[in-house]
Amino acid sequence: MTGHPLTTLPEWKALESHAAAQNAVHMRDLFANDPDRFSRFSFKYGPLLVDYSKNRVTPETMALLLELADVRGVDAGRAAMFSGAILNSTENRAALHIALRKRDDKALYAGDTDVMADVRTVRDRIKSFADSVRSGARKGSTGKAFRHIVNIGIGGSHIGPMFAADALRNAKAPELTVDFVSNLDAAHLKDVLEGLDPAATLFVICSKTFTTSETMSNAAQACAWLVASLGERAPSAHMAAVSAETEKAVAFGVPEECVFPIWDWVGGRYSLWSAVSLAAILARGFEAFDQLLAGAEAMDGHFETAPLDQNLPVLLAMIGIWNADFLGAPAMAVLPYDHRLRLFPAHVQQLDMESNGKGVMRDGAPVGTDAGPIVFGGGGSDSQHSFFQLLHQGPRHIPCDFIAALSGVNGPDKNRDILLSNVFGQTEALALGRAAEDLADISDALKPHKVFPGNRSSNTLLLDEITPYTVGMLTALYEHKVFVQSLVWGVNAFDQWGVELGKELAKKLEPALNGDASAVRALEDAGNSSTSGLVAAYLEAKGRKS
Ligand code: F6P
Repeated sequence: MTGHPLTTLPEWKALESHAAAQNAVHMRDLFANDPDRFSRFSFKYGPLLVDYSKNRVTPETMALLLELADVRGVDAGRAAMFSGAILNSTENRAALHIALRKRDDKALYAGDTDVMADVRTVRDRIKSFADSVRSGARKGSTGKAFRHIVNIGIGGSHIGPMFAADALRNAKAPELTVDFVSNLDAAHLKDVLEGLDPAATLFVICSKTFTTSETMSNAAQACAWLVASLGERAPSAHMAAVSAETEKAVAFGVPEECVFPIWDWVGGRYSLWSAVSLAAILARGFEAFDQLLAGAEAMDGHFETAPLDQNLPVLLAMIGIWNADFLGAPAMAVLPYDHRLRLFPAHVQQLDMESNGKGVMRDGAPVGTDAGPIVFGGGGSDSQHSFFQLLHQGPRHIPCDFIAALSGVNGPDKNRDILLSNVFGQTEALALGRAAEDLADISDALKPHKVFPGNRSSNTLLLDEITPYTVGMLTALYEHKVFVQSLVWGVNAFDQWGVELGKELAKKLEPALNGDASAVRALEDAGNSSTSGLVAAYLEAKGRKS
């Protein structure tokens, strides 16, 4: 009887015993007893400083976590990624998003194919397409230059490029307007198109599969909008596409020269480094995008070569596992304080929860522990005034990542002084708290309400400033962190079967919602009174409105 492959490991057991002892220790004591705690548990890599000292860790904790990383094959796993191995076993694919930000002239193989040849060709095509749109050389059907870009996509074909569009913002070059439409609710497209000049609007239909129903329906609506004001023949001059299915995009009516390929070895949530960011590139310029790639490439180099105990993605991954599996934290919050990172929590949410939200290991056996935390978050300043109450005084321990830049768009200024004092103050309140004995002049009745338990974990990530380069680095850091955690938990970080069943059922239900009487009857006979009741409510409302 060998037991569970992960949780019966001696390295896992050692961490469990260590956690039991550590549970009695408060971070107040950890700081009081070690004046060097910050330098011991912080790490600077280029323009990025990571302080992980406000976690319930000691040198022994870190050593035990690194032993676990070692025995779970993190070293071999990262080597496998950089050699183009089939990491996505259920779909028999490599996970080669690192190829998309490789800017040297070396080869990188997936099987027998050097993927870099295609990556470089497509990068060149994106650049010249973006240059022609931005310079006004490429025009719409009436001869007008494009001023508005509208991306139609969803999931990784929406959140990533939308986040990138903000991150690329500080490019000096002139900008086109850019909007992102994902929702099937017609209000999304309607609100975006209101006030746009169709003759100056270019749509980017972004879908790896080119079958996603939200995207295909919205793309058809966009075509109808173009036809209504510019005529039958207009759409092809106002559409570009990004897809792994070029023929489908061409069949939809996008000219082949405006279709930009991606490949099966890049997952949607890892694809912002590819043509998937086309809308952002058209709006902000290729140079800014190239800097985003350069930042990610630098983080790739660090992840690939740094020893595990000095490797930022590995350190953050193992601290995340410590918090989730040994200290019982059910969730984590991502809290960027810079406006241009405000979509980062949504991006990390998809990246982390779609990658590691799995119940079984690569061989199909149960994971046996909590893989993949619940990830949520929001802009730090706003979140302080909404959900921070629960982080400070709620009964659960929810570790946080605070992210901020040392310098803002105006350089050092008073606002930044206040912003960063908030970041540092919040992390201190979470870590050290405030004990009842520190509350003089407060009535006994009020004291319990004013006590902060503290001992709540956080990482603080400080970037020199928000530039495409630093954002590239930050984003790649989280990607690799998620990957390292997947290696420890033994899950496949690159598939997402959990999104399929809902999609299948939606397809099956469509005829009933269209009013097909036999489909409605079949639904009633199927015996799910909730679904048939909801469908009946919809059909009744539809009948009243039409
Ligand atoms: O449903 C989930 C998902 O497959 C994501 O993984 C992906 O990013 C998104 O849908 C969009 O897929 P596509 O780019 O193929 O339209």
